[in-house]
Amino acid sequence: MLTHKPITNAFDLYSWFTLMRTTNPVTYDEDHHAWNVFSYKDVYQILTDPKTFSSHILPGEGFIETSILMIDPPMHRHYRNLVSQAFTPRRIAQLEPRITEIVDTYLDSVIESGKMDVIQDLSYPLPLVVICEMLGIPMEDRDFFGYWTEIVIAEFAKFQGGDLEAQQKLGAYFLQIADLRRKEPKDDLISALLTAQVDGERLSDRDIQSFCMILLLAGSETTRNLIGNAIYALTEHPEVLAQVQNNLELVPQAIEEVIRYYSPVRFAFRVATSDVILGGQQIKAGQLIFPWIASANRDEHHFTSAEHFTLDRPAQQHVGFGHGIHFCLGAPLARLEARIALTSMLQRLKCLRLSHEEHLEAIVSPSLQGLQKVPVYFQPG
Ligand code: HEM
Repeated sequence: MLTHKPITNAFDLYSWFTLMRTTNPVTYDEDHHAWNVFSYKDVYQILTDPKTFSSHILPGEGFIETSILMIDPPMHRHYRNLVSQAFTPRRIAQLEPRITEIVDTYLDSVIESGKMDVIQDLSYPLPLVVICEMLGIPMEDRDFFGYWTEIVIAEFAKFQGGDLEAQQKLGAYFLQIADLRRKEPKDDLISALLTAQVDGERLSDRDIQSFCMILLLAGSETTRNLIGNAIYALTEHPEVLAQVQNNLELVPQAIEEVIRYYSPVRFAFRVATSDVILGGQQIKAGQLIFPWIASANRDEHHFTSAEHFTLDRPAQQHVGFGHGIHFCLGAPLARLEARIALTSMLQRLKCLRLSHEEHLEAIVSPSLQGLQKVPVYFQPG
């Protein structure tokens, strides 16, 4: 298993990032047999060049190893064109009323108490329910589905590849749903995946299984952390919180700044396909590389006052959703869920403040960044 520096404070890797960007921006880590890359310029170069920096880091034929996230061109382009036909911005935008309803139901159940844990009470369940609904998982299967999903997500977050039994259970389940939709299509994502076509080619059953699996993995913990990190960052910066509360149109800007400032995905992973010099260092073919997205997003050579949390930045320069051919396919969905959740919270929860009664602990994951709990107090608005 991969473990980087032990985390004592929730976001304490940032002082390490600053030190590394200044002293060792591309450095070999003997313990993990991998290169760590910290500057925006180098991270950007890696993400832009899939020919030299491959995403196919794990051998094997599992659903995750063969998913869109871990394959290279030309297969990647073909696969991405197919799934993009089903996972369209239009389909995402149509979810707005339903996501608003789900968020409001969660807030209704805590609002009178004047306190909540943003993670447990909202940002953990929200993306899972949304993905279930998108996929068309019937209500009666949600317990089974939730149980195995939690296991796959927990294993993946620890960067251990994934629990095989759980992957098989979920894979078999997705296949069952696909068979039902083939006979009787519905207006859901699996039905759309079944009919997607490029040059007469369609997705195989296996492709559909692996795409559904990666949606669960790539889309749930990340969005959970984005919403949690947003409330944490805003309560940590009351002047920005007030600015957004006075003008809710600023919520999308605040979300982009949170993704930059407390990036939910800390690093991506690549393997060098040939010998290459990066930041003056010789990387050899076959070596593993971690481009640290969270560090790139604080690089003072790219961002003015990078350590400052502010809404006055040109839009979307961060690499929080990656860059290039693997740019996050779910970014429109993550942005929509976060916008609705934050807008509703800022509208309905007045005098929002973080509870200082508990020590805030980081989640146990090298690659993702977030808090286990974000306890807040407020007055019902
Ligand atoms: C890819 C971040 C939410 C689905 C990526 C990548 C990043 C990322 C950094 C690129 C990885 C790489 O280059 O190796 C995030 C963040 C999110 C988020 C920060 C939330 C705040 C979502 C959601 C979904 C999703 C909600 C779908 C439900 C995907 C998929 C890919 C991906 C399918 C692979 C795309 C490809 O390889 O072509 N995401 N993601 N993500 N993300 Fe997201």
